[in-house]
Amino acid sequence: MHTQDIPTELRRYIEGAHIALALAAAGGDTSLLLVNEPFRQLTGYADVDVVGRNCRLLQRDTENREARARIQAFLQDERLGAVRTPIVNVRKDGRPFVNLLSLSKLKALSGEVRFLLASQFDVSRSQPELLSAYETALSRTVSRLNPTLAESGIVIEGSLTTIANTVATVAQAKLTLADLEAPGCP
Ligand SMILES: Cc1cc2nc3c(=O)[nH]c(=O)nc-3n(C[C@H](O)[C@H](O)[C@H](O)COP(=O)(O)O)c2cc1C
Repeated sequence: MHTQDIPTELRRYIEGAHIALALAAAGGDTSLLLVNEPFRQLTGYADVDVVGRNCRLLQRDTENREARARIQAFLQDERLGAVRTPIVNVRKDGRPFVNLLSLSKLKALSGEVRFLLASQFDVSRSQPELLSAYETALSRTVSRLNPTLAESGIVIEGSLTTIANTVATVAQAKLTLADLEAPGCP
């Protein structure tokens, strides 16, 4: 799967978001298809360093046993829609940070998992207000999207209880929309 296989609306949403987002293809070794500017800022990596590769490269040689076990369980168990875990990552320049990683699955109308969507947030340097600013930024993104989605008969449900779920809800709506608009779809 390549970047051009991402539905345009979903790609635009990710590229325009003010929080770090990364999208991977489901299946295989979940290699990255797309990352956005906040991701590049946070990690120091450019597209050429990460696209087409698994995001575990951010861990370098850190162990992260518990976090990786939770992520693996999420990837393997189809009943799990989202996971959130802190995980130690290392920037391109070698500086480590604690990444609050939120991961979710994006499904096609058929129920098949098509993409995996992640959001990264540096909790190591975070004062509480930075985390809440992150949530606010996300909530703004969501409310800007609401009118567009409503025009297509899609409503964003639920409150902003977890970032993972919110990001997933909006992105899922985009994917569902793209599916509905695909030629040949009943
Ligand atoms: C879309 C996506 C984004 C991810 N982002 C990160 C990340 O920012 N940092 C990280 O340490 N792991 C990230 N992961 C998790 C790793 O890619 C991998 O799934 C995890 O390390 C568990 O598998 P492993 O034990 O085989 O490495 C991401 C996974 C996906 C699917």
